[in-house]
Amino acid sequence: MSIKKYLDKFPDLENKTIIVTGANAGVGFELCRHLLYKKTHVVMACRNAIKANAAREILCKEFDNPNVDILLYDQASFESIDNAVKIIKDKYKDFYGLVCNAGLLGPIKGGEYTKEGFPVTIGTNYLGPFYLYNQLSDFLNKSEIERKIVFQGSMVSDMKTPKGMDILDDDYSQWAKYNLSKKCVECLFKYACTQNSNDRVAYLLSEPGVTKTSLFRSMSFIFRTVGGVFVRLTSHSPKKASLTMLRCLMNDTKNGESYLPRGFGRIRGYPKKYPFKEKRYVDKLILRGQECLKSK
Ligand SMILES: NC(=O)c1ccc[n+]([C@@H]2O[C@H](COP(=O)([O-])OP(=O)(O)OC[C@H]3O[C@@H](n4cnc5c(N)ncnc54)[C@H](OP(=O)(O)O)[C@@H]3O)[C@@H](O)[C@H]2O)c1
Repeated sequence: MSIKKYLDKFPDLENKTIIVTGANAGVGFELCRHLLYKKTHVVMACRNAIKANAAREILCKEFDNPNVDILLYDQASFESIDNAVKIIKDKYKDFYGLVCNAGLLGPIKGGEYTKEGFPVTIGTNYLGPFYLYNQLSDFLNKSEIERKIVFQGSMVSDMKTPKGMDILDDDYSQWAKYNLSKKCVECLFKYACTQNSNDRVAYLLSEPGVTKTSLFRSMSFIFRTVGGVFVRLTSHSPKKASLTMLRCLMNDTKNGESYLPRGFGRIRGYPKKYPFKEKRYVDKLILRGQECLKSK
């Protein structure tokens, strides 16, 4: 089946506003493309105005009169998240979808921090979305319209975390920190859908499988070379990988569902609904996240 055929299976998302974080590159950008094909009003939430405008330009050339806005949003700064939330509650208060896709692999060595002083990987991938969720959850609980909130997880959540590693530990490997941050995102998804008291709102989990994007640029040479072969042999395109997020946004999805690629090892393929692996939920990771947020 072609991607176009897959997209055509679903109704258009006309008159719906969908906010996508990390929309200027990788799977976030490809999701915007699919959403414009489905006639959506897209809000690209990005940290860098120049990159966001360049990405918007590409989409404007591809689509006839597309409805695309840019919202400045730095997931590594609570002040920036607060500003974005104010705009969301005002200008985009009727938004239908919010896709929390922005994320990074993080630096090879430690020593890089978010505005609040958290190690950049956990701060950006987990504490940023957790802060965003906290700032929006009352608003969402009172929502009188249907909405979908999508978290972007990763298959690396299944990997073991080094014994005794805390979310703020910065002296572990790049991969250990990334894996833990994605484990935390999946716990946040589970936490959000169990706390949800509004039938109109659904919290969903997407996993894109494996796909070559700029995320891989921050890998060490060895990982890029060895991993590059693996990725070339097994992965699918960012266009296809972004379909799990799109699938979450369709109107038949329900609170607590997760969509992953259907192929071998959930690495590639068209989206399929899978049950969330309950063993992935670790209460302690939510408690530590809450403690970190309270400390600022
Ligand atoms: N690629 C894969 O195989 C894979 C697998 C599993 C999960 N994922 C997840 O998919 C998501 C997207 O990754 P990708 O592969 O598309 O990588 P990507 O091409 O590097 O895109 C990441 C996006 O996130 C943005 N971002 C990073 N830090 C941010 C911040 N502080 N505030 C706002 N935006 C920020 C980036 O903006 P800039 O351009 O400004 O850096 C970029 O737009 C990530 O959450 C990643 O963990 C990817």
